[in-house]
Amino acid sequence: MAEIVGAITTSHVPAIGKAIFQQLQDEPYWKPFFDGYVNARSWLRDVRPDTVVVLYNDHGLNFFLDKMPAFAVGAAPRYTHADEGWGIPTIPPFTGDQDLSWHLIQQLTDAEFDLTTCQEMLVDHAFTLPMALLWPEQDWPVQVVPVCINTVQFPVPSARRCWKLGEAIGQAVRAWDSDKRVLILGTGGLSHQLEGERAGFINKPFDLAFMDSLTADPLWATQWNSAELVEKAGTQGIELLMWLAARGALGEGARELHRNYHIPISNTAAGLMVMAPAA
Ligand code: DHB
Ligand code: FE
Repeated sequence: MAEIVGAITTSHVPAIGKAIFQQLQDEPYWKPFFDGYVNARSWLRDVRPDTVVVLYNDHGLNFFLDKMPAFAVGAAPRYTHADEGWGIPTIPPFTGDQDLSWHLIQQLTDAEFDLTTCQEMLVDHAFTLPMALLWPEQDWPVQVVPVCINTVQFPVPSARRCWKLGEAIGQAVRAWDSDKRVLILGTGGLSHQLEGERAGFINKPFDLAFMDSLTADPLWATQWNSAELVEKAGTQGIELLMWLAARGALGEGARELHRNYHIPISNTAAGLMVMAPAA
């Protein structure tokens, strides 16, 4: 059966793409952010995943406001990036793990998640940039399965629902008749708000408590509804739902192996965690 080697949760910000392209990794503004990924990359070299299930929110590249699925799973042979309007350079395409895609779609449907299945899918910065931070050569030694959770157009799925989706993904991967090693990657958050009166809002105490909760008390964030999470983390900070789903996939216990937290990258509190299933 397949094995989940662990989960990585990270922020995603379009400006990271420009910084990579302009090779600004050692500039004072960027260094504390990029340095955080060194340990994650060395852990990846040890655990050698074959496939990555990427939990992220699309921001209008693949789905626009006219059609917005709560949960969508990619089942394409190949996923390409395209111009999103941020001016970030596009990066090489990703190979889909279609066997795992269809297994996940079947198992999640059996677990009563009603999904949108995408046999063609563009992937945006929330998918591409975390991948480029983890594999800077951009030669992608892994196959991928994209899973989108809507955090862009309200109403968005509740924290409890996202936790359960993550749990169901974990169960499905562990029941997959394959000897592949699977990484769960959740991208979004942490606190940030891009528009309105609270533009620039960041909540460090909340972010740190949320990061602690993922190992100590992983259902902690499910005590709040979406409006309350927006109040605490900002309108885009609700992307933290991806972290919760990724953690859910690890099952009951998880160990924190590494973390980084840096304010700000663009308008965002940038966080990173590497977690392994409980031994
Ligand atoms: C920013 C953050 C995001 O999560 C995003 O999707 C776009 C922009 C930012 O801080 O600039
Ligand atoms: Fe975002």
